[in-house]
Amino acid sequence: MPAISATAPGKIILFGEHAVVYNQPAIAVPISKVKARTIITANPKRKPGAVKVIAPNVGLDTYLDELPQDEPLAAAIRSVSHTLKLSTIPACDIRITSKIPIAAGMGSGAAVTISIIRALSAFLGVPFSDEQVSKLTYEIEKIHHGTPSGIDNSVIAFNKPVYYIRNQPIQTLEVPQPFTVVIGDTGIQSPTSTTVSNVRNAWRDNPTFYESIFGQIGRIVQDAQRAITGGEFKKLGLLLDKNHKQLQMLGVSSSELDHLVNVAKSAGALGAKLSGGGGGGNMITLVTSESAEQVADALQSEGAVNTIISVISSTI
Ligand code: PMV
Repeated sequence: MPAISATAPGKIILFGEHAVVYNQPAIAVPISKVKARTIITANPKRKPGAVKVIAPNVGLDTYLDELPQDEPLAAAIRSVSHTLKLSTIPACDIRITSKIPIAAGMGSGAAVTISIIRALSAFLGVPFSDEQVSKLTYEIEKIHHGTPSGIDNSVIAFNKPVYYIRNQPIQTLEVPQPFTVVIGDTGIQSPTSTTVSNVRNAWRDNPTFYESIFGQIGRIVQDAQRAITGGEFKKLGLLLDKNHKQLQMLGVSSSELDHLVNVAKSAGALGAKLSGGGGGGNMITLVTSESAEQVADALQSEGAVNTIISVISSTI
């Protein structure tokens, strides 16, 4: 039997992180320059159920039986066999690799889960639909994030730009005129669960103030959707800057993120903000195609450990 493989892209949130947890809209796009990949090879010499999980990025090389219920890779594998009501998975090696930075706001957890679910459901002869993959991944995201909004599993499973509102059917976002972003990585790992719970605690202490910021972010996201569909990129840049200020007010930026945002602006970007959970991880900046390299170079020489230039379009 030939090996079965599946990949899943990274993602970036263009607008609306954190407020999306409180039912405001957000816009996210897949980033296919970085991917998670799962390759499954049957190993009929071992007895049924002898499933080996190999994930060099996290130093894992062990049998599924030995992994606890709340281990996210094992949970993704078990979610597939559970859905198919299988008590045993045929003996195989499941090899998982990823080029998506971990705890950096690029959806690495969701992408890894999605590549596992896609590869394993295909290996077992019943490839799951995007909808099914997204739903199962949302459950696993709870292990990573605690209280995920569902945006990561949606944008990565459907592999299209999305205008996302929690608990509502997914809306894909039309991008009639492609545009270029540069993603800059501070190199600082920052678990999303930490910043999300910090915001929750602050919101509990002062709901009026925080809800007013969430509402302002929601309006920025609506304006951004109109700017994207209308190809108004100057305006889109200003909206990124505004959204970054709101995120600073929520307390989820950091000196490194603020520095890279300022560097991008000085190098000619149209706008910039942190992206994802914040506290570290990545920032994004809107550029013209001519200035992309210049902005990426400026970010790298001012501390970004990596940059990705990506063209955002409806098809990705
Ligand atoms: O850090 P990321 O890229 O996984 O994004 C988190 C986005 C939040 O809005 C902060 C949380 C969520 O579940 O939507």
